[in-house]
Amino acid sequence: MARLQGRVAFVTGAGRGIGRAIARRLAEEGARVAVTDVDDAAARATATEIGEAAVGLRADVTDPTSIRKAVEETERRLGPIDVLVNNAGWDKVEPFLESSQETWDKVLGINLRGPLNCVKAVLPGMVQRGRGRIVSVSSDAGRVGSSGEAVYTAAKAGIIGFSKAVAREVARYQINVNVVCPGPTNTALFKEVARDRPKLADALARAIPWGRIGEPEDIAAAVAFLASDDAAYITGQTLSVSGGLTMA
Ligand SMILES: NC(=O)c1ccc[n+]([C@@H]2O[C@H](COP(=O)([O-])OP(=O)(O)OC[C@H]3O[C@@H](n4cnc5c(N)ncnc54)[C@H](O)[C@@H]3O)[C@@H](O)[C@H]2O)c1
Repeated sequence: MARLQGRVAFVTGAGRGIGRAIARRLAEEGARVAVTDVDDAAARATATEIGEAAVGLRADVTDPTSIRKAVEETERRLGPIDVLVNNAGWDKVEPFLESSQETWDKVLGINLRGPLNCVKAVLPGMVQRGRGRIVSVSSDAGRVGSSGEAVYTAAKAGIIGFSKAVAREVARYQINVNVVCPGPTNTALFKEVARDRPKLADALARAIPWGRIGEPEDIAAAVAFLASDDAAYITGQTLSVSGGLTMA
């Protein structure tokens, strides 16, 4: 499929995990991709794997200046950004009553303010050009709640609300804004959670109607669809990719 031929995509947190799979999939579909991550070695490694269609750049989503510079460099090297994928995320699983304000700041900074920073940097160009696709990776936690992840849930629910509001503001410019909510997915982030809470991880896998946890490629396929013209008339929507774990 070459649904994204000639498009330029900017993917955050793309050095590993779901972001890496998204960057690979968008490139397979014809896009030129800025593979960005706070871990610049990981970003460059993913870009090298993808080949000529990709550039690897350091970009810390919590820092507006870092994002602005990465956006400028992307536009200089690849051209104007057609697709923004807000994927970077971070979590620490613990009961809310044991969590510190320091942890709240980190969780909210990466998962909530991060996408705000990226949209703020990329959206003006999209408005000017009268086209664009924004896809944010939230979480099923943000739709249905997840114990041990209260602040993360707040941030991920925040992204769903934010996306709906921005979707309304920019629909007249033919820019759509949608959200993909992974269920438990086989990445380092999930493995860390599984290590700390093995019973929770086992119970989750058993509870999934499809019979397995998600793979990063499952999420990437949904993101590629929403980034493509096949989704041109879809905006402000939230898609759960969870093997049926949640159906609310
Ligand atoms: N894995 C799951 O089970 C799962 C479930 C639901 C939602 N998600 C969401 O999917 C997204 C990707 O998760 P993953 O499992 O691939 O995680 P991961 O930890 O494997 O990868 C996250 C990437 O984000 C990068 N990152 C962290 N902080 C950053 C920052 N400040 N700026 C830029 N990049 C930063 C990391 O360096 C890493 O490469 C996240 O938003 C996560 O919340 C994951």
